Amino acid sequence: VGASLIDGKAIAKAVRSELKPRVAALIERGHQPGLTVVLLGNNPASETYVKAKANDCVKLGMRSEVLRLPEITRQDELLQVISRLNADPGVDGILVQLPLPAHIAKLAILEAINPNKDVDGFHPINIGRLQIGAEAFLPCTPYGVIVMLKRSDIEIAGRRAVVVGRSDIVGKPIAQLLLQEHATVTVCHSRTNDLRAVTREADILIAAIGKPRFIVEEMVKPGATVIDVGINRVGDVLVGDVDFERVREVAGAITPVPGGVGPMTRAMLMNNTVVAAERFSGK
Ligand SMILES: NC(=O)c1ccc[n+]([C@@H]2O[C@H](COP(=O)([O-])OP(=O)(O)OC[C@H]3O[C@@H](n4cnc5c(N)ncnc54)[C@H](OP(=O)(O)O)[C@@H]3O)[C@@H](O)[C@H]2O)c1
Repeated sequence: VGASLIDGKAIAKAVRSELKPRVAALIERGHQPGLTVVLLGNNPASETYVKAKANDCVKLGMRSEVLRLPEITRQDELLQVISRLNADPGVDGILVQLPLPAHIAKLAILEAINPNKDVDGFHPINIGRLQIGAEAFLPCTPYGVIVMLKRSDIEIAGRRAVVVGRSDIVGKPIAQLLLQEHATVTVCHSRTNDLRAVTREADILIAAIGKPRFIVEEMVKPGATVIDVGINRVGDVLVGDVDFERVREVAGAITPVPGGVGPMTRAMLMNNTVVAAERFSGK
């Protein structure tokens, strides 16, 4: 039989088409939403992501700006750029593309971004607000995962969710959002004993590990929903953290890679930028 496919591409498209009239309404009121992405150096993966984000903006009729700075930019110079963007009323969203070079203290940069322009949801204020269930910019990948589950009519409340991975930008906030949706949440990581026994308990299994095809069928409870956050380059192909071909035989629903969480992440960034613009324009 096999699992049903959760089509992230299609859900992301629906999210974007719902944003279109909101962008149009903002433009009508003289406030074109604008996202500025700051990129240091020329990491090829970052280049790809930045281009995709700029493209998404343009397609939605939003203003997009990419500030390409040399790898050797000093921290105080970067802080000055951020402070200028914070003050610029034409900039609704600021995104500093990670990873940053090692000579820059990531936290100092993330903390310098105006939390109301922090469309990536990485400022400690937004992380704290998420933690207490206050209105906040939600980090795009975790937000995308939740929207994807909801729009696929997958019940979250009361069910057992297992998140493999505890990074600040993916694993932890996904766990937090699932908790808010009333799942019973377990977070696993590289020091978890008998991982397979834990993942087999999951009604909803989230893989955010960064290891190609790590989750195999023996780790999955029959009928479970499996969300694959992983993006790993193996030779010329992109593969997830889930062994898709094998796991789809046991899972109830599964996301593909590519075409799963990735497009959702991009759509939620657009969503956050529109929300920021609506707030600034006083709506
Ligand atoms: N779809 C998207 O838009 C999107 C966005 C962001 C990231 N990603 C992808 O998602 C994946 C995770 O990203 P990340 O930034 O969260 O990565 P990360 O910071 O490297 O975190 C990986 C997590 O996986 C855990 N882990 C590693 N090996 C493990 C093992 N053998 N057993 C159990 N847990 C293990 C680590 O545990 P410890 O904490 O103990 O080290 C860590 O918590 C990557 O493939 C990344 O490319 C996709």
